[in-house]
Parts: sequence; structure tokens; C-alpha cells
Amino acid sequence: MRRYLRIVVLCLACGFCSLLYAFSQLAVSLEEGADGGGGKPQAAVASWLAGGGRSTLRGAGPVAHPGGSDRCKDFSLCYWNPYWMLPSDVCGMNCFWEAAFRYNLKIQPVEKMHLAVVACGERLEETMTMLKSAIIFSIKPLQFHIFAEDQLHHSFKGRLDSWSFLQTFNYTLYPITFPSENAAEWKKLFKPCASQRLFLPLILKEVDSLLYVDTDIVFLRPVDDIWSFLKKFNSTQIAAMAPEHEEPRIGWYNRFARHPYYGKTGVNSGVMLMNMTRMRRKYFKNDMTTVRLQWGDILMPLLKKYKLNITWGDQDLLNIMFSHNPESLFVFPCQWNYRPDHCIYGSNCQEAEEEGIFILHGNRGVYHDDKQPAFRAVYEALRNCSFEDDNIRSLLKPLELELQKTVHTYCGKIYKIFIKQLAKSVRDRYARSPKEK
Ligand SMILES: *[C@@H]1O[C@H](CO)[C@@H](O)[C@H](O)[C@H]1NC(C)=O
Ligand SMILES: *[C@@H]1O[C@H](CO)[C@@H](O)[C@H](O)[C@H]1NC(C)=O
Ligand SMILES: *[C@@H]1O[C@H](CO)[C@@H](O)[C@H](O)[C@H]1NC(C)=O
Ligand SMILES: *[C@@H]1O[C@H](CO)[C@@H](O)[C@H](O)[C@H]1NC(C)=O
Ligand SMILES: *[C@@H]1O[C@H](CO)[C@@H](O)[C@H](O)[C@H]1NC(C)=O
Repeated sequence: MRRYLRIVVLCLACGFCSLLYAFSQLAVSLEEGADGGGGKPQAAVASWLAGGGRSTLRGAGPVAHPGGSDRCKDFSLCYWNPYWMLPSDVCGMNCFWEAAFRYNLKIQPVEKMHLAVVACGERLEETMTMLKSAIIFSIKPLQFHIFAEDQLHHSFKGRLDSWSFLQTFNYTLYPITFPSENAAEWKKLFKPCASQRLFLPLILKEVDSLLYVDTDIVFLRPVDDIWSFLKKFNSTQIAAMAPEHEEPRIGWYNRFARHPYYGKTGVNSGVMLMNMTRMRRKYFKNDMTTVRLQWGDILMPLLKKYKLNITWGDQDLLNIMFSHNPESLFVFPCQWNYRPDHCIYGSNCQEAEEEGIFILHGNRGVYHDDKQPAFRAVYEALRNCSFEDDNIRSLLKPLELELQKTVHTYCGKIYKIFIKQLAKSVRDRYARSPKEK
């Protein structure tokens, strides 16, 4: 008798389960029917997330589509739907396993890396090459903040929109502008284009951290790597820059400056990483009053005081500011901001000799004249390349040949350091998987 009872209970349980299953299937089909096109934007966001979350995914290739045949494994779809509401061709089991990750993902949305640039005059092509080099190697999604003169907006928009299929970046165009408070007074004192970057913490109020770069730099490794310095800041550091010179005998600030500057040779502001939350909060020591001043209050008196003594504009103001607040600056090695000064009279950036150049900075127009052909060759190789994997893989060989033609210059003599990290970055990101060979 008890045996029968057990069988009956078992049957009832089974029946109940199948009923549940049938209902869930019905719910799914109803939902899909009602869904129409509405699912699309969500899928796009999901693939964006997936693009940032997976380090194996190629930033430059089209991002995996959630609708593909490997839907069963798709992380992003699971994330956006509770697993009992998944379309029938997604296995709930995988989502079940991924539930632990899902929890993580919810707490920490994918962090975007914010990159700002100021483009005036004939800087469109240079800026686009810089942005391209950032996109090609980076892993996490990028948010570009492009400050440009009005007549350049149309071209920027056209060019950037033609890359939108990549889905690994997003951008905002801004006019050259001053913070709304005291705009008139700012305008009287500051040249708009040259000083724009000093105001970034005040204009981009919602942005926590930002990498500012000049238009004439190219990334030879992922932006992620320089971005990770933010996490290495100690409690007093708010920004990071590289020294202006490695070799004091040819340094500019230590020989000519008529104002205070940071450290032995000053700092170069062409690549500047900022925790703007901290910059906005900090009260800066200064040589104008005994009171400490905030970023927004210090710029104007500083300029008034040093107007007649500064040569390089905003970079000089930053040097003055950090000379009084040295504990606030994180100094990164020279290969993160490699300029002709590092090799023009012989190599003096030891870190680059060992590990290669990470960020190339062709200041003084060397991408566009024949004074430093090694710099120009790297720039042109990146300017000429497209986003196709094969195209990126095959940029190295011709570039090396081109660099070998530059050995008559001091910078060309050490041409291997121009290509060392670049080759590694290409290998890491675009190596063929065994299947494709
Ligand atoms: C891209 O940036 C715009 C602002 O320029 C913003 O409204 C939009 O939400 C961003 N898109 C994504 C996917 O982050
Ligand atoms: C910037 O500093 C603020 C305040 O100290 C901190 O909360 C934030 O996490 C920092 N940002 C980054 C990217 O480290
Ligand atoms: C500007 O330079 C002159 C000449 O070197 C110097 O005497 C003066 O003290 C400097 N001004 C400031 C504000 O440092
Ligand atoms: C952070 O590092 C800077 C530069 O090395 C140093 O001057 C400063 O004292 C450090 N701050 C703390 C709180 O350790
Ligand atoms: C890039 O393209 C230009 C013309 O489109 C060509 O003259 C130049 O040699 C190319 N440079 C490299 C390094 O491929």
C-alpha cells in the first residue's frame, strides 16, 4: 500500500513539473510575440557590455551578436533576462551557472575609460589617428570627449559615425568653451584653445576620471594600461604626468624657466591622467595667498601673476601648481610620453630602451615634416591602417622596413624600440587563433 502511495506522489510531482514547463513555454512564446522590434536596443547594450567584459574579444572586430549559434553560452542575454523568461533557444542551465557572475556584474557595471582631446586648426587627421590607435588596442569601452573648433565638428561627426559599427566607443563633441561661471573674465585672460584642458575638471562635472592627450600622440598599447595607474594613486595623488626631460643638461625648465616648476626638469602635460573628483575637491597650496584654493579659484590669480613669465602656456601653469603641491602628482616613466627629446641627441629614456615605447608623442610637428622620420613612419602606418584584423596584423612588416630607412638619425638608430611594444600589442590582440590558420 505504501509503495502505491509513493508512486502516486511521484506521478503527481512529475505532472506538476511538466505543467510548470508547459506554462513557462507558453509565457515565452507570448512574450516573443509581443516583443516585436523592442528587443533590439537591449541586445545592442548587452553586446556592448559583453565587449567590455571579455578580454578575449577583439575590440576592433565586430562585437559578438547575441543571436548567433552559440546563444546557449551567451552571457549577456542571461544577464538581461531572468532565466525563466529566456527565449527557448537559450539554455537556462548556463545562466544558472553564470548566476554568480551575474551578481558581480550588477554591482560593478563595466567601467568606461574617458579620453579627452582638444583639436583646433589643422588637427583633424592627427586627432583621428590618435583615436584610431586608442580603439585598435583597448579592451574596455572608451568614451571620447572631443573639444573642437566649430568648423571641425561636421568632419569629426562624419568620420566618427563611420566607425560606429565597432561599438567599442562612444563620443561627445563640444565647442571650445569656458566654465559658465565667470566665462567673460576667463575669456579676457585665457586663449581659448590653448587653455581648454585646464578647465576640463570644471566642465566635465559628471566625469570621475579622465585621460587627456594632445592630438599628436599615438597609443602603441591599450589605453587600459595607462588607465590602470589611477588605481595606483596613493591617497594624496590626483593626477599623473611624465617628466619633461630625462637629461637635465638639455632640459628646458631647469635652464630657462622664469617660474617655479615640478621636480628636476618639470613635467610634460601632453599625456595627463586625472582623477577629476579629487582635483575638484582638493585645496591647493600656492604662492599667492596663505589660504589654500580650489582648482576653479586658483587658475585666474595664477595666470595674472605669471602671465609675463610663462612660455608654454597651460603646461607652465600646471608645473607651477604641482611645484607647490608635489605630493599630488604621480610621475610615470618616460615611455608613456615619448618625444623626440628622448632620442634627438642620443637615447636618454632608459625604460623605453628596455620595454619599448608605449605612447608616442610627435610634438613640434614631427609627424608632418622630415626632421624625425622614425616618428613619422609610425604615425603614417597607423594613419593608413583600417580596422580589419588582417590589415592591422600586416602593418608591422612595411613599418619595420620604413624604420630601417631612418637609421641615419639618432632616433632611427634605436628604431627597434618604436616597434617593440607595438608588435606585442598587435600579437596580443590580433594573433590568429589556431582554428583560423
Ligand atoms: C553615448 O554618449 C551620449 C552622449 O554623447 C549618451 O547620451 C549615450 O547614452 C552614450 N551611449 C552609451 C551606449 O553609452
Ligand atoms: C577618484 O577619486 C575618488 C575619491 O578619492 C575615488 O572615489 C574614485 O574611485 C577615484 N577614481 C578612480 C578611477 O580610481
Ligand atoms: C618673472 O621673471 C623675472 C625675471 O626673471 C623675475 O624677476 C620675476 O620675479 C618673475 N616673476 C614671477 C612672478 O615669478
Ligand atoms: C604619495 O606619493 C607622493 C609621490 O611619491 C608622495 O610625495 C606623497 O607623500 C605620497 N602620499 C602619501 C599619503 O603617502
Ligand atoms: C601611407 O599612405 C600614403 C598615401 O596614401 C603613402 O604615401 C605612404 O607611403 C603610406 N605610408 C605607410 C607607412 O604605409
